[in-house]
Amino acid sequence: MKDKLKSFFTEHWTYMAVSAACKLNLFDHLQEQKTVKQLATELSLNEEKLLLLLNALHNADFLGKNADFFKINSLSEILTENNPGSLKYACMNWSAEHLTAWQNLDFSIKTGSSSFEEIYKKPFFDFLNDNPEKLDAYHKAMYQYAIDDYKTLTDVIDFRKHKSVMDVGGGYGAVLENIKAKNPNVECVLFDLPKVIEKVSIPNIKSIGGSFFDKFPSHTEAIVLSRVLHDWNDDKTNIILKNCFETLPNNGTLYVIENCSDKIKIDLTLLSLNMTAMCESYERTSIQYISLCKNVGFQFDCETKLNELQTILIFKK
Ligand SMILES: C[S@@+](CC[C@H](N)C(=O)[O-])C[C@H]1O[C@@H](n2cnc3c(N)ncnc32)[C@H](O)[C@@H]1O
Repeated sequence: MKDKLKSFFTEHWTYMAVSAACKLNLFDHLQEQKTVKQLATELSLNEEKLLLLLNALHNADFLGKNADFFKINSLSEILTENNPGSLKYACMNWSAEHLTAWQNLDFSIKTGSSSFEEIYKKPFFDFLNDNPEKLDAYHKAMYQYAIDDYKTLTDVIDFRKHKSVMDVGGGYGAVLENIKAKNPNVECVLFDLPKVIEKVSIPNIKSIGGSFFDKFPSHTEAIVLSRVLHDWNDDKTNIILKNCFETLPNNGTLYVIENCSDKIKIDLTLLSLNMTAMCESYERTSIQYISLCKNVGFQFDCETKLNELQTILIFKK
């Protein structure tokens, strides 16, 4: 029992080693086998310490080793930049500010407030806005998750019934790319913060920069709000939903896509703790989302499952 505990305390070291390898672009440079000397020279790294890291990655099954040569394997291939299903940015996402926020989780439990804000003195999305590299890395990470998570969206929802759809807080546009590819006649509008929109250019998709806490600059028949509301407490969520309501025409449709904790078997408690530490939020039940939407005037229409985690709640104005 004690031994199990002792190894449990340092389990995160393996993830931290993998994340450091991503930061140093090691996996990208080990698509062909190399010795530590070759790699250290190529990337200007300390050879002795690099060998420690490479051996740790090999022992954790993230690298193949043949005599003195190291090379990526089927697992670390997914952590290379140009792999079509790459999770490189998703991997790095959790080892920076998220980890710092978790280190101060006790603050959130004592106060109910975000430990991220306590440390960085500003809300998470303001912090990203002020750090262009981190903003880009975060959105690449979200996009890498989104590619997998939304791949069945157009099988589940027939978007052809709408003339136009706006993805509010749509990040780098994975949802709309999917909708547009399957429904070329639907007008698609990507709405996110101006600094996010500056980075995106998707053919045939209109992108608009702004804040969902202000009135929206565009009107569409339908709005998608995916993984947005879980970032905000009830007061802020209320403002976003009110703005959605005002933007939509009568009979317009709102799609809320979230991990609803009552709809899945997977336990979301740790994810809720993460949301608490990062942005004073948590993973709600479908009943809580429905109640928040009804409060601003929406009528609940129906729900459907998107994947193992996410549920689509559909509302009408
Ligand atoms: C968790 S991400 C979800 C991204 C995408 N919808 C997805 O499901 O992958 C939250 C999104 O909300 C956007 N966002 C945050 N604050 C915003 C604001 N005030 N106005 C508009 N978008 C905002 C972020 O830039 C980010 O794209």
